[in-house]
Parts: sequence; structure tokens; C-alpha cells
Amino acid sequence: MKQIIIDGGKTLKGEITISGMKNAAVALIPASILCDEEITITNVPNISDKKALIDIIELLNGNVIEKEHTLYIDTSKIESKTIPENLASKLRASYYFMGALLGRKRKVEIYFPGGCNIGNRKIDFHLKGFQLLGATISMEHDKYIIEADHLKGTSIHLDFPSVGATINLMLAAVKAEGTTLIQNAAKEPEIFNVGELLNKMGAKISGLGTNTIQIEGVDYLHKASIEVLPDRIEAGTYLIIGSLIGEQLKIKNIIKEHLEALLSKLQNIGVLLDIHDDYITVSKAEFYHPINIKTLVYPGFVTDWGQPMTVLLTQCDGKSILEETIYENRMAEVPFLNKMGAKIEVEEQTAWINGPTPLIGAEVEATDLRAGASLVIAGLIANGVTTINHVEYILRGYERIVEKLTNVGASIELIDIE
Ligand code: EPU
Repeated sequence: MKQIIIDGGKTLKGEITISGMKNAAVALIPASILCDEEITITNVPNISDKKALIDIIELLNGNVIEKEHTLYIDTSKIESKTIPENLASKLRASYYFMGALLGRKRKVEIYFPGGCNIGNRKIDFHLKGFQLLGATISMEHDKYIIEADHLKGTSIHLDFPSVGATINLMLAAVKAEGTTLIQNAAKEPEIFNVGELLNKMGAKISGLGTNTIQIEGVDYLHKASIEVLPDRIEAGTYLIIGSLIGEQLKIKNIIKEHLEALLSKLQNIGVLLDIHDDYITVSKAEFYHPINIKTLVYPGFVTDWGQPMTVLLTQCDGKSILEETIYENRMAEVPFLNKMGAKIEVEEQTAWINGPTPLIGAEVEATDLRAGASLVIAGLIANGVTTINHVEYILRGYERIVEKLTNVGASIELIDIE
């Protein structure tokens, strides 16, 4: 088990550079196997989810060379092979091999995807879309077998603008015959990033960033390169940290438009922000107003910011409300925050947070990625020492988190224990 130990209460000053977006990188890497030649992906975050995806590409006969934050992926010899349970279940994004392999090889055998336990996380929209494109789907125990002699463009309406389904269906449709329309598509920046790579490979996709995406199928996809966009969830996490213990803390390599929903809430609370297009300086203010937040799809307040934000709301003067609308089980950090001195009540998917409450260091557990991030924030502002167990979850999505925080003055260490 890996643990993070934090001696809280330090003021953070200096600069933090935001890495490439996890949720784009985990789709761009599988998307590369649609290419008949070679793909270069730059600004790839060094997170543990990346390793699992590279293992799958290598299993499928792809060749991956890694140099710092760049991946060179030769996918000219890709074969369709069964993606076994031990690889598929390591992360949610293994499901992107469904769309990509179906497009490239017309056949996929893959076990259930894994990922954080934050709700039901069905993939029925993905499967229904593959069927509309002409695929048949069968199950052998926990293995999906998805096959098509022929993929034909069609019109697909998503019941909910799912990020995963939008990307997976784009991946399958780029090599279908004719035109596919994805309606009620998701608009998150990661969709734009993946569509941009596919278009650079020769795909014909329009409407990225709107709720209707149109894809004209093509036969061949050639070599291309793409840069992973900055991670708005990571940037949001550090902006929240800066709101609590920052003194002119500079958050660099951001895209301001991706952060608008968070910045507006931080301004309402009273956080001191100096906002530029590609960096923001954040400092703690003396008094914070309580606010209400509802998580929404992009461009609304991202569900992934909800758990880190809960910690900031414990320091606002009065009652704040956080309503989570995307996942059923995204408040697993609350019992641990209460153990540290917070006063939070949860009913179904809504949290009532009574502040301000000083937090006190304690032994707590990261139960999922963003719950883990919220406990890091709590540990940073708490009096005394906080020990967070099972931080493997955090390392799935935050590149060099311990180093980034240490560099700006935090007292934090990562240790391996038996
Ligand atoms: N949904 C269905 N059926 C489907 C697909 C989705 O009912 O076929 C429901 C889900 O159950 C959920 C909602 O729709 O309630 C949203 O799901 P979506 O497909 O949008 O999310 P996802 O692809 O499972 C990705 C990220 C999440 C992030 C969400 C929202 C990856 C691998 N995961 O999940 O990231 O929270 O989009 O932006 O990209 C994280 O980074 O901690 C994380 C969980």
C-alpha cells in the first residue's frame, strides 16, 4: 500500500505547472490504434493509468516508445486479441479499445472495464451505438465480444451527453461507411482533443464542442501528432488548494475557458484571484461566503471538482450545499472529512456543509481518485499530521502531486508500506 503523510498548515507560494489532461490522454492513447501508420502524442501526463493503456497497445502488437512526456506509437501491425480481465479492469478507459478496435479490425474481445467505484457507470449507450453502426454484441461470462462484417454510418441519439459514449462512438464511426450523426453529444474539452487527433489523421469530423457531431467515414488514417490539452480537473484542484492556503500561488499552463464554472464559484466565495488566459494567481482571503453548487456536464461545474470543493466549503462562513448530479456515489470522502472535524451531512447525492470548521489531522483512506484529492487538501489545511492510506487511486490521475506540492512549500511525503 502507498501512503501520503502530510504535516498541515503550511502556506503555499511559488508556481505549479498543470500537466496534460488525464481524461483526454486515456482516450487519445487507445484512439491511436485506428491509425494505419504512427501517432505521436505530446504532453502525456505521467500517471499510472497511462501504463495500463500502453500495456494493452503492446498486447495488440503496437509498438510504444516513451520519451519523457511524449509517446510514439506505431500501430501499423495492430491485431485484434482478447484484452484480458487483469488489464481491462485496471481502468475505466480500457473501454475506448472497444470503439477503436471495432473501427480498425471489426472485432473486439474485452473484459469489463474497471475504474473508480463512484456509481453505476453503465456503458449501455456505447453498446447501443455500436449496434446501430452494425455490430453484434455477445457476452461470454464477463467478456464482451463485439463484431461487425461491415460498419455503416447512422444516426445515434444519446439519452445523456456521456463523455465516454461520445468518444467511443466517434472512434468506431470514423471508419464506418457513410455519415454518422451523434446527437446530444458531450461537449467536454477531451472530446475536442480526441476529434482533433482523428481529423489530423484524415478523419472528417465536424461539430466538435457542440451537441451534434457529424462523422464522414474514411478508409485510411495516416500518421499524425497531437498535444494533450491541460488538465482542468488538476488545475481546479490546485486552485482550490490555493484558495485555502495560497499566497500568490501561480497555477500555470491552464486554459481559462475550461475553468470558468469553477472561477465563478471561487469569486462568489471571495477567493483572491488574478486571472489570465494561461495562468492564474490565487491567494487565500480572510473571509469566505457560503455558496450552493450543482455539478453538471460541460460547460457546467464538473463533477470531478465536487469532492475537492467540499473541503473549501468547510471553510466558508455558514451553510453551503453541493448537489452531485452525474454519479450516485461521489461523496465517499465525507465520513473522513467529518472525522477531521468537518460538519457535513449527506442525503442521497446532496451534501450540506456547515462552516467554518477547523480541521485536525487524522488517519483517513482514499476510496477513489477525487475523494483522495479532497483528503490531500484537507490534510494540507489541517492542524497536525494526516495519513492517507491507499493513495494508489490518487496517483492514477495526478502527476507528481507530492513533488508539485513540496516545491511550493507543503510538508508532504509518499511512502510505500507492506
Ligand atoms: N452513463 C450511462 N450509460 C452509458 C454511459 C454513461 O448511464 O452508456 C451515465 C453514467 O452512469 C454516469 C453518466 O452517464 O452517471 C456520466 O458518464 P460519462 O460517460 O459522461 O462519464 P465516463 O466516461 O464514465 C468520464 C471520466 C470521468 C468524469 C466523467 C464526467 C474517463 C475515463 N472518465 O467518465 O472521470 O468524471 O467523464 O466528466 O474519462 C475521474 O477523472 O475521476 C473520472 C471519474
